[in-house]
Amino acid sequence: MARNIIVTGGAGYIGSHVCVELLSGGDNVLIVDDFSNSHPEAVERVKAITDRDATCLHADLARFEDRERIFAAVDAFAPDAAIHLAGLKAVGESVAEPQRYYHVNLNSALTLIAALKRAGAKKLVFSSSATVYGDLNPNPVDENGRLGPTNPYGRTKFMIEQVLRDVARAADWGVVSLRYFNPVGAHSSGQIGEDPNDIPNNLFPYIAQVAVGRREKLSVFGNDYPTPDGTGVRDYIHVVDLARGHVSALGYLDKAPTGVEDINLGAGRGYSVLEAIAAFKRASNRDIPYEFAPRRDGDIAEIVADASKAKNLIGWRAEKSLDDMCADHWRWQSQNPNGYAES
Ligand code: UFG
Repeated sequence: MARNIIVTGGAGYIGSHVCVELLSGGDNVLIVDDFSNSHPEAVERVKAITDRDATCLHADLARFEDRERIFAAVDAFAPDAAIHLAGLKAVGESVAEPQRYYHVNLNSALTLIAALKRAGAKKLVFSSSATVYGDLNPNPVDENGRLGPTNPYGRTKFMIEQVLRDVARAADWGVVSLRYFNPVGAHSSGQIGEDPNDIPNNLFPYIAQVAVGRREKLSVFGNDYPTPDGTGVRDYIHVVDLARGHVSALGYLDKAPTGVEDINLGAGRGYSVLEAIAAFKRASNRDIPYEFAPRRDGDIAEIVADASKAKNLIGWRAEKSLDDMCADHWRWQSQNPNGYAES
């Protein structure tokens, strides 16, 4: 049966892919997005890919003046559940502007919780992050790993997980916090993908902009880590696999409506920066000039998921390879060299 699902941040990189999976599966979607780091064109493209309509509310969940409008739209939509992705996400920026990060990320979550309460919905999937683990655990990291985020962005994720735990207990909600590892890639249509506002912070969008000629060369941050080739190792996960993980989490909440679960979404295998560059070079058939640079503040040598809980509890596992991630990321970048800007 079709469900009514709110997707906050539904115009963003991960949100747009989540909306495609929900709409393709027959669910109805209400997007709440302030377009601060996303583009209305992404919503149009989601509609084109799925041949379905999503309702879209342009509003800022962290803005007091927008609350009543959000409450009214949520009431009218009569949601069965929400997927909460809206928030600020740049680690470096969060160190420079911690107050803004706490304000936006915490207030957005609290407003959504209030809206769901009013509307009588009790199911929530939260976009958390592997960053909640910090650097405290041997790899692969499972959900019982020690938590120790090392920057304000990560601490907002950690705090919201705690808030949701308390709300779930007090009000018999069902909550799944999905701890993402490193989402990359794009929809296979090449129509939606990651479109960073400014100079990309993350490896894949940076590599893609070098490959397409928008930037001269990549800096590889550190080649003296205790990893096989000295560069950082991460668990990259295709954004379409990640999006499907949200649908699996909703399916789980349909069957087990109360309680809280933290679930890693990763592929369970790590690749170094040099391996990622080599794979992207193969996929794009372009040169990716790079130079070694000092380690980036706050980076860790390696983090890889133990993804067995996702498989056992919600029946999900990552299916796409690193080559798929690179091929799809490249298709998006080469078809949209300036992102959504010229649309
Ligand atoms: N890297 C480079 N050059 C770049 C960018 C990144 O060498 O220009 C390296 C990093 O040092 C790291 C790897 O590529 O070894 C991956 O870096 P990303 O910035 O792509 O990803 P992170 O692992 O640092 O960060 C991601 C998310 C964060 C989240 C974090 C949790 O982007 O939101 O995972 O571990 F908090």
